[in-house]
Amino acid sequence: MNDTKVALIQAMESYFNGDTKRIDHAHKVTDYAEKLLEGEGGNYSIVMGAAVLHDIGIHEAERKHGSNSGKFQEIEGPPIAREILAKLEFEAGQVNEICEIIAHHHSPGKITTRNFGMLYDADWLVNLSDEYNIKDQQKLENIIDRVFLTQTGKALARTIYLKDKSQEILR
Ligand SMILES: [Fe+2]
Repeated sequence: MNDTKVALIQAMESYFNGDTKRIDHAHKVTDYAEKLLEGEGGNYSIVMGAAVLHDIGIHEAERKHGSNSGKFQEIEGPPIAREILAKLEFEAGQVNEICEIIAHHHSPGKITTRNFGMLYDADWLVNLSDEYNIKDQQKLENIIDRVFLTQTGKALARTIYLKDKSQEILR
């Protein structure tokens, strides 16, 4: 594992302080983000920083607003991420880009960079199973076409979630 990733993960785990639900989610999103980087290229440090820390505002959102909704996470995440990234000696430009991604990670459209697309898709790859009834394959296929921003994200989503369907076709 790359040093940057190790340091980010340690900082995230220490911040989440035993909240295994959030820690596990961050790990899953980070693993997918690495796969997406292999397919799409892009900046490793930016995408790893954004992936590991994307939901870092969730505890503050719950504490201050009584809600873990995406909007409040987008507001509360960047200042915490900024502090963590500064301690890890990320450059100012990198900190700004990572925080911009975190500030919009539930609101696609404003930031159109490839780095944003990979974080957005990595989060969706994990969340898709929670947000939709994955038994409805046709509906899922439409959602995959609509939500994913990168070709690698779309392809991975089809492989993971439409597995049963492709097996049926092969039969
Ligand atoms: Fe997330």
